[in-house]
Amino acid sequence: MRVFITRLIPDQGIKMLKEKGYKISIYPKDQIIPRKDLLKGVKGADAILCDLTEKIDAELLNAAGPQLKIVANYAVGVDNIDLVECEKRKIYATNTPGILTQAVAEHTIALMFAVARRICEADRFTREGKYKGWGPMLLLGTDIKGKTLGIIGLGRIGFAVAERAALGLGMQILYNDPKPNSNFEKQFDANYCKNLNTLLAKSDFVTLHVPLLPSTRHLINAKNLKLMKKTAYLINTSRGPVIDEKALVAALNKKQIAGAALDVFEFEPTLTSGLAKLETVVLTPHIASGTWEARQAMSRTAAENIIAALEGKVPPNLVSSQ
Ligand code: GLV
Ligand code: GLV
Repeated sequence: MRVFITRLIPDQGIKMLKEKGYKISIYPKDQIIPRKDLLKGVKGADAILCDLTEKIDAELLNAAGPQLKIVANYAVGVDNIDLVECEKRKIYATNTPGILTQAVAEHTIALMFAVARRICEADRFTREGKYKGWGPMLLLGTDIKGKTLGIIGLGRIGFAVAERAALGLGMQILYNDPKPNSNFEKQFDANYCKNLNTLLAKSDFVTLHVPLLPSTRHLINAKNLKLMKKTAYLINTSRGPVIDEKALVAALNKKQIAGAALDVFEFEPTLTSGLAKLETVVLTPHIASGTWEARQAMSRTAAENIIAALEGKVPPNLVSSQ
């Protein structure tokens, strides 16, 4: 059995695959694998372990060949995979849910603090030698306790963010999701907003935790950014295209909202023109799941999925197009 890994990942999963005696090939460079190398590398593979940077489509599945049994994504989001094409060919597609929830929730909270307390701006200010002594009006930010956090998408990550914000930080929770969750509401004194616009109008911080789907592309756009408070902050650790980034830059330039903290970008890794010039924005390069603990766990989970598929079992973290 041959496993093709598109880029070096933390070692625990790779060890598990080696122990099974599979033949492992790993794209040797620490960069996103060029498409032509990807098409060549997957040829004859029984399993592909790929990242969210690889587009898994009909062309790629054809290039791999009919022996391919599984595409194991090293991510929870699967918008890079054409699930319909996988299903047509009876190829399993899997993700790494659950184990990165905590890391992503913690990064979301870190971004919230960073933007509210102007941490990155203050760091730049201090490094640049601009600090000339304590000032009563210097780099004032905003409190978090008592503020309203609007959570869009109450999956595992949205839930974990709510838990930290409600219990740890004393925030009020609003949430928008296709369906309400009364246990969640009781547990965290949270309120359901069936209408996204209501959540946007009432929240001091808005955080996105939806998958990228046709229905969530540009969920945040020029029209509804106008509904947010002038003092509000937008946080995104989900997928870049959930926000119309050009509209966000325009809203920030017009001071329609107070700031944004983004770990993901619409045209990743390219930033929309004007975004990086804004002092009111905190930017991180898609590292929300980037802790050693989470990335090792993702490595093990991807390996578990591959091992199950190659042993003729249904892998534990199957994703389907429905
Ligand atoms: C990261 O973005 C992931 O989907 O796991
Ligand atoms: C992310 O929360 C996931 O585990 O689905």
